[in-house]
Amino acid sequence: MARLLRFAELRFPLDPAATFGREGPLVLEIGFGDGRFLVTLARAHPEWNLLGVEAAGASVVRALRRLCREGIEPVRLFKGMAGFVLRNLVPPRALARVYVNFPDPWPKSRHAERRLLQVPFFRLLSTRLADGGALFLTTDHPDYFAFALEEGRRSGLFEVQTLPPPPEVLTTKYAEKWKKRGRRFYHAVFTKVAEAREVFPPLRKEDGMPHAILEGPLPEIRDFEKMVHAFPGGHAIFLERTHRYPEGYYFLVRVEEPELELIQELLLELRPSTHGLYAGLKRFGDPLVTPGVRHAVGFLVDWLAAQGLRVQKRSY
Ligand SMILES: C[S@@+](CC[C@H](N)C(=O)[O-])C[C@H]1O[C@@H](n2cnc3c(N)ncnc32)[C@H](O)[C@@H]1O
Repeated sequence: MARLLRFAELRFPLDPAATFGREGPLVLEIGFGDGRFLVTLARAHPEWNLLGVEAAGASVVRALRRLCREGIEPVRLFKGMAGFVLRNLVPPRALARVYVNFPDPWPKSRHAERRLLQVPFFRLLSTRLADGGALFLTTDHPDYFAFALEEGRRSGLFEVQTLPPPPEVLTTKYAEKWKKRGRRFYHAVFTKVAEAREVFPPLRKEDGMPHAILEGPLPEIRDFEKMVHAFPGGHAIFLERTHRYPEGYYFLVRVEEPELELIQELLLELRPSTHGLYAGLKRFGDPLVTPGVRHAVGFLVDWLAAQGLRVQKRSY
């Protein structure tokens, strides 16, 4: 069955044959939305191993339901950002193709940096595509199309060809929506002809749980207000604290690390343990230990120390 990839089971980069349970050309769809196009691709090319990445959680759930309902097997989905997947999950030169259908155009110039298809993206992509591999772009947005063509050419790593869109890309949810409004469609193929010199190493995956052991009685945390802690490379937002059963507290924390293209919602906890009070990450919700997560734990520990607890041991 199609399924969602979780950090706990993943190596960086992933091993495609182990992840899909078979060998096959690896094809990535970026921003798969409701997953319709993944169904189309799987039916047309049953030998392809399809990896999908989508930033919006609600769309991931919808797509997974669709793929399961349709009995589609060779698809693995990841909730997150394209850059994260390319850098950390996709091995060098592993991708046969990449599809991007109707990317968000971000038409305002103050939002231009959010556009997906820019020179740094093309540089990273060139290291993950196999020789002769290609990215297929379809959009209804003429300005975004011109922008993407220019960025692809400017990278110096891709040959760019504009073609009429093939019929299968005009069946996605957004294609249907824009067809009804009579929009024109634009299509381009970016074929890799050279590779960036940078290596773009994936993150090193760590198994240990960042934490500290503190000494002192479990404090009564009464007035908790949202706290934001900035660190180099991002910030951690402490959104809420709740009571833990039978003793202690959970802290709901959002860690945003734009340079890693990663946002995580995590639980930190403060609870009695055999050696003292444990303050650290909880293994719940598939956390990935990153520098930002370690900063968040460090911030919590310092905050608890300021409430009068003594730090015995720091492990983060
Ligand atoms: C306009 S929709 C198109 C959806 C679908 N491809 C279609 O044609 O119906 C763009 C999608 O890309 C997703 N997205 C935007 N930026 C992304 C990124 N950097 N990585 C992964 N998904 C992204 C959005 O969440 C959204 O679902």
